[in-house]
Amino acid sequence: MTGIVIIGTQWGDEGKGKATDQLGERVDYVVRYSGGNNAGHTIVVDGEKYALHLLPSAVLNKNCIPVIGNGVVVDLGVLFQEIDGLLARGVAADRVLISSNAHIITPYHQVIDRVTERFLGKRKIGTTGRGVGPAYADKVNRMGVRVQDLFDESILRQKVSASLEQKNALLLKVYNRPAILADEVSEELLKYAERLRPMMADTPKVLNDALDAGKVVLFEGAQAHHLDVDFGTYPYVTSSSPIAAGACTGSGVGPTRIERVIGIAKAYTTRVGEGPFPGELLDEVGEKLRQDGAEFGTTTGRPRRCGWFDALVVNQAARVNALTDIFLTKLDILTGWEKIPIVVAYDVNGVRHETIPMTQTDFHHAKPIYEYMDGWTEDISKAREFSELPKTAQAYVKRLEELIGVRISGIGVGPGREETVMIRDLL
Ligand code: GDP
Ligand code: IMO
Ligand code: MG
Repeated sequence: MTGIVIIGTQWGDEGKGKATDQLGERVDYVVRYSGGNNAGHTIVVDGEKYALHLLPSAVLNKNCIPVIGNGVVVDLGVLFQEIDGLLARGVAADRVLISSNAHIITPYHQVIDRVTERFLGKRKIGTTGRGVGPAYADKVNRMGVRVQDLFDESILRQKVSASLEQKNALLLKVYNRPAILADEVSEELLKYAERLRPMMADTPKVLNDALDAGKVVLFEGAQAHHLDVDFGTYPYVTSSSPIAAGACTGSGVGPTRIERVIGIAKAYTTRVGEGPFPGELLDEVGEKLRQDGAEFGTTTGRPRRCGWFDALVVNQAARVNALTDIFLTKLDILTGWEKIPIVVAYDVNGVRHETIPMTQTDFHHAKPIYEYMDGWTEDISKAREFSELPKTAQAYVKRLEELIGVRISGIGVGPGREETVMIRDLL
């Protein structure tokens, strides 16, 4: 029995896709357990680039079965577009299994997502506009549409009508937008039913049986700890539970079956969308990190906000997720700096904080306090052993390890599958 969780430790885009894909060669099942197509995971295999939003990243490994768990919200159009896109490139992506309990993102969720953001104006969240938040809101509000509803037409029509009754009132009266026709939505969803039927499965049973049989199941987190609806920078978060505990509720596998939790941490920090970011660099240093790291969103193309590594951010993720290992990504991007700052504490109105302040107000007022490490100029992309890294790069990694309090077991030195320094086996 081996259950392994991969999560993002910052604000997303840490390189979870690459790490998942890399482990995927030795994994039997890979499971997405939260989020939807708000995620954007880029994977580079033999120089070929793949951008996935909904399918688990290890889909590129032919022996691994991809699973979309009950905790995911599914845009069926995107699901089939992604599958067809991969099939056209020779990847057998149609072997995916999908939970009968997963919720569906309908066209009205997308409309509500966009009009709400516009309505919020300056207070907007900066969502990806994919309808993810409204789909989760309907789930919790007990008016969601699930994958299994597509196979009972009268239930589907009832649910869509009930949900739209409320939403159309909102669209017409508050947002001044045209009403959405329930029949049109139902028919659009029903178009996908036949293609979806063979993919629908009792995924908790499949996964627990696989674990009983000694198979390796990898849970691929989307988003990240600091976008979690409970632990993130609320309200500037996503509407699901990307933390490690979410792997259990989002897949139907109990906590005692998880043996390892691997946190993916970028060697610096980025964030997309609105919300506090104490170490954000709004100057040419931030711009250089953005250009060097190609920090533009995979999903929306938005420029990512950049800053140096924030140890408080990753340290909190280590604690709440009981991380067993860290996989540090994009160390290669830091090549060429004379000094590399690390955020080791915050100043909040004259008081030094070494952990994230408890309240939103204090976090908004936090100013970074830096420690400075020596940089390196050598190209590190060919390094495969820790000892092949320049001494100063080794010292940087060791210092991060100390600050996070979790061992760093792998280091990314380039986007390619093989561009990795493995310090110890992650499986
Ligand atoms: P995810 O959302 O966590 O899967 O991350 P994204 O795919 O959105 O963003 C990470 C980006 O960094 C992708 O373009 C990856 O190809 C790239 N990447 C991942 N690891 C490394 C690395 O170690 N070095 C470099 N240079 N790029 C990396
Ligand atoms: P991956 O899996 C980075 C951010 C959005 C916004 C907030 C809420 O690629 O790391 P949502 O559309 O989820 O309601 O938006 O969350 N966000 C992400 N930022 N990477 C992601 O996914 C993200 N998914 C959502 O930018 O700030
Ligand atoms: Mg991403």
